[in-house]
Amino acid sequence: MAHARILGTGLAVPDRVVTNDDLSTRMDTTDEWIRTRTGIRERRWVREGETGVDMAKAASERALEMAGLKVSDLDGIIFATSSPDHFVPGNGVFLQRALGAGTIPALDIRQACSGFIYGLSLADAWIRTGQFRRLLLVGAEIQSTGMEISTEERHTAVIFADGAGAVVLGPEENPDRGLLAFDLHSQGEFAETLWVDSPGSMYHPRVSHQHIDEKRHLLQMDGKEVFRHAVTRMPESVQAVLVKIGKTTADLALLLPHQANLRISEMVQRALKLRDEQVYNNIDRYGNTTAATIPLLLDECVRGGRLHPGDLVVMTAFGSGFSWGSVACRW
Ligand code: UT7
Repeated sequence: MAHARILGTGLAVPDRVVTNDDLSTRMDTTDEWIRTRTGIRERRWVREGETGVDMAKAASERALEMAGLKVSDLDGIIFATSSPDHFVPGNGVFLQRALGAGTIPALDIRQACSGFIYGLSLADAWIRTGQFRRLLLVGAEIQSTGMEISTEERHTAVIFADGAGAVVLGPEENPDRGLLAFDLHSQGEFAETLWVDSPGSMYHPRVSHQHIDEKRHLLQMDGKEVFRHAVTRMPESVQAVLVKIGKTTADLALLLPHQANLRISEMVQRALKLRDEQVYNNIDRYGNTTAATIPLLLDECVRGGRLHPGDLVVMTAFGSGFSWGSVACRW
């Protein structure tokens, strides 16, 4: 039975660069605070009118080109985002239309930071059934329009950012190549620790002036609590996925950890006793792009020569939900 392998990768980020100094002109913060507490130097934010689907289309076209495939070769689309362009329908169908794909299925998933890992698992399962051969998976977010650029909201405003990454997957017969194992979890008791309350269908109307006055439409996060769980759950999950394939951290060529905060990545690296060359981070240039962080890392490693055929790579993510997980992949 064939499972899934990544055939091509691509990324697209807005051309608008927002530096820490830019932010310090709009709120009480400093380049020094942001760099030392988060590792972020700059991030990308969309310009007015630029959409998540625009970025996803550009990233997808790059991934298709690397895979040597055309849009018409795709059998389906999975779109991971917690910040869709609209409430309904999801970004998947808008991407299907923008790419000029046939009437292939387009599925949206909303796992936020771990959305890309969950998406890989779904794509692998779809390919294993034999129902689909070539799938496009996108992780894309526009967080900048959901934040308030103010001192009151500075703990989120300096971190979150916009970007998109895509992969094309296809069937692989070699059992030791491609996506080898997954470890997925959720823990809803922490749902409100990192969330957007409104708009929501439990409210009538779904969003009101009162919600906006109370800032319930903004991303709300208890950063310390998320941090505390992230630094234990990600190492635990990496170990779990390695155990499933009978490997250890010594076998790992590369760990790609969700880019939430460089201090989190460094603590995950220490907990797993990994050498610097075994971990790749790019949060300094992109900030936290939620579902897009892993495909952004992956594309930079593939195009930058950090990943070679035969390398064992593990990708791991933790975030809103809480929801987290890892995937082990032989390149
Ligand atoms: O994507 C997955 C989900 N997200 C995460 O994994 C994020 C996890 N959490 C974090 O990355 C960190 O908790 C933050 C970067 C959000 C905050 O860092 P922290 O070290 O936990 O800071 P804190 O919230 O405890 O705040 C410490 C101080 C406070 O001042 P006082 O009360 O000590 O006077 C904050 O008001 O730092 C202040 N502060 C800032 N100061 C300057 C918070 N944000 C800023 C800021 N600039 N941007």
